Amino acid sequence: MTPTPLSLTLRRPDDWHVHLRDDAMLATVLPHTARQFARAVVMPNLRPPITTTAQAQAYRARILQALPAGLCFEPLMTLYLTEATPAAEILQAKASGIVVGVKLYPAGATTHSDAGVTDIRRVYATLEAMQSCGMPLLIHGEVTDPAVDIFDREAVFIDRVLLPLRRDFPALKMVLEHITTEAAVQCVRDGDDYLGATVTPQHILLNRNALFSGGLRVHHYCLPVLKRERHRAAIMAVLASGHPRFFLGTDSAPHGRHAKESACGCAGIFSAHAALELYAEAFASAEALAQLEAFASLNGPRFYGLAPNETYITLRAQPWTVPHHYGQDETHIIPLRAAEEVSWTLS
Ligand code: DOR
Ligand code: ZN
Repeated sequence: MTPTPLSLTLRRPDDWHVHLRDDAMLATVLPHTARQFARAVVMPNLRPPITTTAQAQAYRARILQALPAGLCFEPLMTLYLTEATPAAEILQAKASGIVVGVKLYPAGATTHSDAGVTDIRRVYATLEAMQSCGMPLLIHGEVTDPAVDIFDREAVFIDRVLLPLRRDFPALKMVLEHITTEAAVQCVRDGDDYLGATVTPQHILLNRNALFSGGLRVHHYCLPVLKRERHRAAIMAVLASGHPRFFLGTDSAPHGRHAKESACGCAGIFSAHAALELYAEAFASAEALAQLEAFASLNGPRFYGLAPNETYITLRAQPWTVPHHYGQDETHIIPLRAAEEVSWTLS
């Protein structure tokens, strides 16, 4: 057994999948992400969704406006793919230099996905343009067919949608976001340099028991939903192996407390307050801390064709207690691990 080091210095990481929202919620959550990460891929599922380059530019400006003085942070923007996204919009997004990917939400799969795609064939012309100009497709990989069990939706998506898509667009870069199953691990591992995956902290720290431990735990509810232990273990194992096409994407997704603690609670876990520390815990439990830097700071930039960051951060093996909540009123958020300890501290 390798002893746990007291501190760990790594290149500053990036978050390749985050929800920053807008307005007061943006102001509440952005400092948490910007404190840890140099860059983050910002999801476009606002209301209305970010479907054009002009909207992405305006949203980016609002993010930079909300950034506290002294923090250096680059938002990497995305467009929300709809059945009406013209190929010309993709070319404009590419030319803008600020859009790094286009997000596929199967219609009805998750929060604010109603403007998403009902049938993948309806966006083939747009995907053609993306493949030609080198614009990655970021995928929420779940089918929405109500006949498919919610715990199987990712595996069925891989068979029904992702593998055919990979055959039809072999040179389109795709990221299978927030993977949750052995099937996804295997699919990405068996893929080539055009296929990567992001992994959230919750999907390597928790299994689906966490949804029901001692009662219904709404703050552990996200989509794709937590799975069985063997899936968590398979994801952690591929990260511990140091595979280069798996990278950090928190999917930190804040919802006000009232929207979570309700008869029909929203999907989304807020983790930006302690993201890297939580990943460090998971990697330490798997005796894989030596692989954390590649996962957090190198694999993502390589996949996206960007340079890794040139500054460094240090994690110390020092516990701290997460607050009960952040924000207030409509931005009152219950964070992952609320009122409990996290065993690493970012200094
Ligand atoms: O849990 C989730 N929350 N999953 C998603 O795909 C969307 C996100 C959100 O925007 O709240
Ligand atoms: Zn997300």
